[in-house]
Amino acid sequence: MIVATVVGARPQFIKAAAVSRVLRATPGARQVLIHTGQHYDESMSDVFFEELEIPRPDHNLGIGSASHGAQTGRMLEAVEAVLVTEEPDWVLVYGDTNSTLAGALAAAKLHIRVAHVEAGLRSLNRRMPEEVNRVLTDHASDLLLAPTTAALENLAREGIGGSNVALVGDVMYDVALYFGDKAESESKALERLGLRPKEYALATVHRAENTDDPVRLAAILGGLSALAQRLPVVFPVHPRTRHRLTSEPLGGTSGLRLIDPVGYLDMVMLEKNAALVATDSGGVQKEAFFHRVPCATLRDETEWVELVELGWNRLVPPRDAASVGATLVAALGARGREASPYGDGRAAEKIAALLGSAARQVQDEGVEVLEPGRAEHQRNDRLPSERSRLDGGDIEAAEG
Ligand code: UD1
Ligand code: UDP
Repeated sequence: MIVATVVGARPQFIKAAAVSRVLRATPGARQVLIHTGQHYDESMSDVFFEELEIPRPDHNLGIGSASHGAQTGRMLEAVEAVLVTEEPDWVLVYGDTNSTLAGALAAAKLHIRVAHVEAGLRSLNRRMPEEVNRVLTDHASDLLLAPTTAALENLAREGIGGSNVALVGDVMYDVALYFGDKAESESKALERLGLRPKEYALATVHRAENTDDPVRLAAILGGLSALAQRLPVVFPVHPRTRHRLTSEPLGGTSGLRLIDPVGYLDMVMLEKNAALVATDSGGVQKEAFFHRVPCATLRDETEWVELVELGWNRLVPPRDAASVGATLVAALGARGREASPYGDGRAAEKIAALLGSAARQVQDEGVEVLEPGRAEHQRNDRLPSERSRLDGGDIEAAEG
């Protein structure tokens, strides 16, 4: 089995670390790693390959930054060329970036099976580029690997169900568990930044809806500055945000400790020891919960709804600095209920097993597969030749 993994952005390197490790240990599996080059700074790319022991990409497409259409189009063309050469059995894509959509689309048009890790997440906000990417990717995928029951329900609402959907848990939880000890032993982030555990807050902001809207960005920066009156606020700045902060006279960063993006191990330690995490990142929201640190999400909605329901996360729509600041201060010390919504830390193993035609065995070990009979995904729309390949393939085995 050849699995071509398409990654390109920071969170995808982190997610791929878990599955890549399991695939490397799976007899008969060969992995082809394709890096689109969407993220390219050392602190946004190389550091994760080193720290998380990910092999060097087999293909680095070097696409870089551009408008959505130009970036996605260039990736589509370049990924297609690699897939034609490598002839993988699966293309594995993660999350909701332009790299995700380009990888899925290139594969689907070549009639190569697509597996989507983090399938089914929805914000129901089509103004987000990520929402467009995830909806289209899910509808082009042959195997939908959902992290949560909420994601399964979202897919079912769109008529995607049956044996090509599996609830596997969240690969980011796998990574957090696997690299937790390494972060503890190797990271010196707290010492380097002169921080004491539980006496600072951690902030990250990078969503286009926030960085590209001066009113929202000013509300966030003003709110974080208000929080900084109470305790230090450390803010590793994403390059998109850095460009905004340097190109526009926003002001409002007083009291914030703006630093360059950090590696994963440092980020884990900064999250774990924070009194509060304030973020618009999907991954950082969950990681705060993994360490049972209260989180304020600087958005109008979140895909990770279970965190809000459990009380670990609260939404803070960035309307004005005063309300953001007040909500952040109120969130200090908040706690939520205990639960395990992200699986058992073995999502990557389940994904590798599903990819490797072992779906029946995996089912016995506890992967929940939607009952056949729920609305099937649009497989029947496929060409007869392709349908027969799918029908004889791995997914059918999942029906048991
Ligand atoms: C992308 C994803 C977003 C994800 C985020 C993770 C899309 C549409 N968005 O957003 O879903 O949450 O990655 O971090 O795919 N830049 C650099 N150096 C880099 C990378 C980017 O300077 O290594 C700058 C460039 O000016 C670029 C801007 O950041 O134009 C935005 O980068 P891009 O990859 O287009 O989107 P992100 O905001 O990173
Ligand atoms: N992250 C990191 N260094 C940073 C900021 C984030 O290692 O300076 C990690 C973080 O721990 C998480 C992932 O990057 O694992 C989240 O990625 P990001 O916020 O860029 O994207 P999103 O999850 O919102 O798509």
